[in-house]
Amino acid sequence: PEGAAPAETLLAWYDAHRRDLPWRAPPGRQADPYAVWLSEIMLQQTTVATVKGYFEKFLVRWPTVEALAEAPLEDVLAAWAGLGYYARARNLHACAGKVARDHGGRFPAREAALLDLPGVGPYTAAAVAAIAFDAPCAAIDGNVERVMTRLYAIETPVRQAKPLIREKTQALLPAARAGDFAQALMDLGAMVCTPRGPLCGLCPWAQNCAACRAGAQEDYPVKEKK
Ligand code: ADE
Repeated sequence: PEGAAPAETLLAWYDAHRRDLPWRAPPGRQADPYAVWLSEIMLQQTTVATVKGYFEKFLVRWPTVEALAEAPLEDVLAAWAGLGYYARARNLHACAGKVARDHGGRFPAREAALLDLPGVGPYTAAAVAAIAFDAPCAAIDGNVERVMTRLYAIETPVRQAKPLIREKTQALLPAARAGDFAQALMDLGAMVCTPRGPLCGLCPWAQNCAACRAGAQEDYPVKEKK
């Protein structure tokens, strides 16, 4: 809507176009932190299309973090086969153990506490805090970097622009619905603000986007000169 804050515009777009993914709670419901964490670990280096089936298989077999913690590591590694990067599966099992033992089986809600868990880095901690607990955290991955560098026509190469991108993303966070906002940014980057041939005609932020207004969408993110 005319004059609405960018976050509101994006959330309205998300309500109309969000992808129906198995780790997402139905609209208005809070997601299970265990399911959010599991999906985010799987999505670290694997596509959404591949993760879907693995995610559902894991949740059926180990419906709670305690169940996963009690599983033999060998079983977890075998179920992980095909997702690659086995260090992720070892950390997954170690993290489940730590949440079960040290946190009474409940994932911590704070970004800093999440960061202390095995296999949970800055992106994953922010994503779980936002999506599972609606904490106002900026989950910034490559897709979000692309969206933000275009929105603000950031000329600094991304490698040096990370603090600026973080600042800009945090400034956009809505007062409520932080989890939906995080996933809306992910969907925008995956479906509309694509690396090549972005669909600016469908973008809720086209009017806000400095790169789009300049007709220079694909010039961003700027890569370092070799
Ligand atoms: N990529 C990483 N996390 C995601 C999520 N929650 N939804 C869609 N894509 C993602």
